[in-house]
Amino acid sequence: MALIQRVFSGVQPTGNLHLGNYLGAIVNFVKLQESHSCIYCVVDMHAITVWQEPAELTRSIREVTSAFLASGIDPNKHIVFNQSQVAEHAELAWVFNCVARLGWLNRMTQFKEKAGKDRENASVGLYAYPNLMAADILVYRATHVPVGEDQKQHLELARDIAQKFNNDFGEQIRNNGFNDGLYFPQPEPLITGPATRVMSLRDGTKKMSKSDASDYSRINLSDDADTIAQKIRKAKTDPEPLPSEEKGLETRPEADNLVGIYAALAGRTKADVLKEFGGAQFSSFKNALVDVCVSRLSPITSEMKRLMADPGHVDSVLIDGANRARVIAAETMSKTKDIIGFIHKR
Ligand code: AMP
Ligand code: TRP
Repeated sequence: MALIQRVFSGVQPTGNLHLGNYLGAIVNFVKLQESHSCIYCVVDMHAITVWQEPAELTRSIREVTSAFLASGIDPNKHIVFNQSQVAEHAELAWVFNCVARLGWLNRMTQFKEKAGKDRENASVGLYAYPNLMAADILVYRATHVPVGEDQKQHLELARDIAQKFNNDFGEQIRNNGFNDGLYFPQPEPLITGPATRVMSLRDGTKKMSKSDASDYSRINLSDDADTIAQKIRKAKTDPEPLPSEEKGLETRPEADNLVGIYAALAGRTKADVLKEFGGAQFSSFKNALVDVCVSRLSPITSEMKRLMADPGHVDSVLIDGANRARVIAAETMSKTKDIIGFIHKR
């Protein structure tokens, strides 16, 4: 049985969707629609690994969905849904809890960062989070996963889980018609584009993040033109003018970040941007950056606003997407049960 090429990715509904999410992930989601069959998921079950205010969670699920649609994801040709509506994600995640080893999870840097010093008080869900992520991908037997660079280690774990499952159940997998023994594919990360790691506007060594206490550290997809302008003008820089070659950015994280953002938004390379702005002061470069940022984001922001005013429509997109996702997930789960040896209704 040949595996079809399928894309899966997820974004957490945890508030403050920002330019990093847009350039690192969503832009690539939009592009891949042309060449692949795509499933894009609002991963609400991942969100609750840390406390979420219920009303705010509901709003955030709609906000991420609106951002997907406003950015150009087509929910009719592809699938857009929220994770908790397809129970098979949780079901397969349990199986993977029994495949993944403690030693593997102990190496996950994101858990260490998120749990911080108070590890004893972190939820069990936060620890097992990468197993659920592997289940998200593999329940659709997806082959390609567009993500930002911070997700690379989680993707490697998903690959290890797929491989161990295939090894552990090799005989049963072959008996179920998979002659090559490859029931789960090895999902490939797609970490592409000039902005796989967008950094904070306040500190070029820290990644732009939803949870940064300072709103000036990020550009939110909900920011209006004035706010974007203000944040870019206040962004940290150094006193030198811009270099004319990329090499000159190596020891200048803030300059590198702003040039990278400009390049990504304008669809150009950093080298090309520096050809134009090399020697310029930050004040004039920042004006150009405000222009490109506002012209690129404002149509998305206003379409998101329009969609957020019609929650009934957004919810119906998610319900329809979940219905279609469930058909694929149920089939994988049914075969997975056969392979493991569970008794179930076919
Ligand atoms: P999250 O908000 O953690 O659910 O992330 C959603 C997607 O955005 C994932 O593919 C992340 O890798 C990506 N992402 C998050 N922050 C950044 C960033 N600062 N730069 C680039 N990509 C990012
Ligand atoms: N962990 C990802 C993040 O924080 C979100 C996510 C959950 C995901 N499940 C996924 C991404 C499956 C890609 C594929 O960004």
